[in-house]
Amino acid sequence: MFIKTVTFFILCLNLISGSFGCQVKRNEETDSFVCVCNNDYCDPLPVEPFSSPQSLTIFTTDKSYYRLTKSVVSESDLKVNQSSDIKVTLNVFDRFQSIIGFGGAFTDAAGININRLTSDSLKDRLIADYFGKDGAEYSVCRVPIGGSDFSDRPYSYDDVFDDFELKHFALAADDHNYKIPYIKKAKELNNNLKLFGSPWAPPAWLKTNNASNGLGMLIGEPGSKYWKTWANYFVKFFDSYKEHGVEFWGLTPQNEPLSGFKPNYGWNTCGFTSEMMRDFIKKDLGPILKDAGYGPDKIKLMIHDHDTNQVYSFAKGILSDKEAASYISGVAYHWYFGHYYDELNKVHEQFPDYFLMSTEACECWIRTDPDVGVKLGNWTRAETYAYDVIEGLNHWSTGWVDWNIALDTKGNPNWALNYVDAPIIVSDDGAEYYKQPMFYSLAHFSKFLKPGSQRIYHQIDEGRMDGVKMTAFVTPTNDLVIIVVNTNPDSVRITFNGAGPTKFTLQFGPSSIQTITKSLN
Ligand SMILES: *[C@@H]1O[C@H](CO)[C@@H](O)[C@H](O)[C@H]1NC(C)=O
Ligand SMILES: *[C@@H]1O[C@H](CO)[C@@H](O)[C@H](O)[C@H]1NC(C)=O
Ligand SMILES: *[C@@H]1O[C@H](CO)[C@@H](O)[C@H](O)[C@H]1NC(C)=O
Repeated sequence: MFIKTVTFFILCLNLISGSFGCQVKRNEETDSFVCVCNNDYCDPLPVEPFSSPQSLTIFTTDKSYYRLTKSVVSESDLKVNQSSDIKVTLNVFDRFQSIIGFGGAFTDAAGININRLTSDSLKDRLIADYFGKDGAEYSVCRVPIGGSDFSDRPYSYDDVFDDFELKHFALAADDHNYKIPYIKKAKELNNNLKLFGSPWAPPAWLKTNNASNGLGMLIGEPGSKYWKTWANYFVKFFDSYKEHGVEFWGLTPQNEPLSGFKPNYGWNTCGFTSEMMRDFIKKDLGPILKDAGYGPDKIKLMIHDHDTNQVYSFAKGILSDKEAASYISGVAYHWYFGHYYDELNKVHEQFPDYFLMSTEACECWIRTDPDVGVKLGNWTRAETYAYDVIEGLNHWSTGWVDWNIALDTKGNPNWALNYVDAPIIVSDDGAEYYKQPMFYSLAHFSKFLKPGSQRIYHQIDEGRMDGVKMTAFVTPTNDLVIIVVNTNPDSVRITFNGAGPTKFTLQFGPSSIQTITKSLN
């Protein structure tokens, strides 16, 4: 076990000794801590194997001390506490959806911040933190097609007015400087990494308001030259990335399509109602992608890509049309403005052949919240991430994709001044970066629920789950994985039945996230 002892003070940040690998840095205003990575040191995450025979392997992250810290309990030492708080029955044979993956987004803002790191080895370490075997092992990532609000300016790949043949289409310097190099490094660490693209806005000259932001949609009707040009733009995008050695797995046709109907909307958008999206896919995007070799066998088209409150109505409007539906593989959702998990169930129940996936989430985005933006070492945000991942998985989601993989200490850059938090924050001088509690929270899922893992049945037989959430899976290598988040200030004891021949009780500490693995071989 690595134990590092360093003590010094930087302004009001207190760098104290950290056990279990983490170089702890506490900010007196927040309730937990970050792990510091610099040229001298960065804490590796545990590497496989994650389970061992005849024992349980437990990984713990909590508010006060642990960061994905491993402990092993042999089966013979497991006990049952008859008066445990909660009793759960698992059935490893009763199986539900399979995992596609977990990850984050290669935004321009992320690349701008990674570029600020003062050494190449530190840049490589940051990418390894997300994609390496001793990192979070991310498996699905989002790439904005052109600019988003997390760019230093709004731009498209063809700002030449009325260029319907897209003769002037070209990737931006941003792709070459901020995205492609880091995507390639990530792919070197995980050659099965799946990428999906999402545009925020078409070129302004294709839009009714001649601007990337504000209230606007594509000019004209589905099937018209404006709509076809926009569909061809996607083909150009995939072709251009392919020329640079980067192939895609998926696509959402529009980030947050309903935002384009809001007057004065602050950043890049384009309005699509469910009906407009249906006809765009049916008449333009679907056939054009297919003809260019990017049909559903190659590129998984995911609709909606917006909040859960309208996910069912939006998906229903499109998937009820057989022809439009034939081009579509999944339904994507975001976590903002309330978590309507029952809407996910409704999508699955009515359209079971289409996967669900969470494609964007971040803390702390409410402009009126006094805690808006980055809070180094904030524990609550690690819990809200874990809570939402678990609830999503328990309502048929096949994965969870975070937003920016790196930002600065203010949550910059964002040309629309929409600052948020991220799991990795690059220091102001670029000499170090900070792994937030959220980073470890996501790793509790991304490292252990490998693609192809299947959710299994669990039932709460006794006790109340107040402040506690859990989910359970079996991996492709036949490991049972149970993930529990306890947001209470006290420990809870849970007795598990059905996870092998014996029952056992485990204690889950206050404000903690735990992943438990057990080989079923
Ligand atoms: C952590 O962030 C949450 C959500 O933004 C906020 O409510 C809470 O006050 C923050 N905690 C601390 C200790 O700053
Ligand atoms: C059994 O669980 C109860 C409820 O959590 C707890 O109060 C008690 O101390 C536990 N007993 C042992 C032996 O751990
Ligand atoms: C659209 O906006 C651009 C840049 O502001 C301007 O040059 C152009 O004339 C506008 N086009 C129309 C049709 O209004």
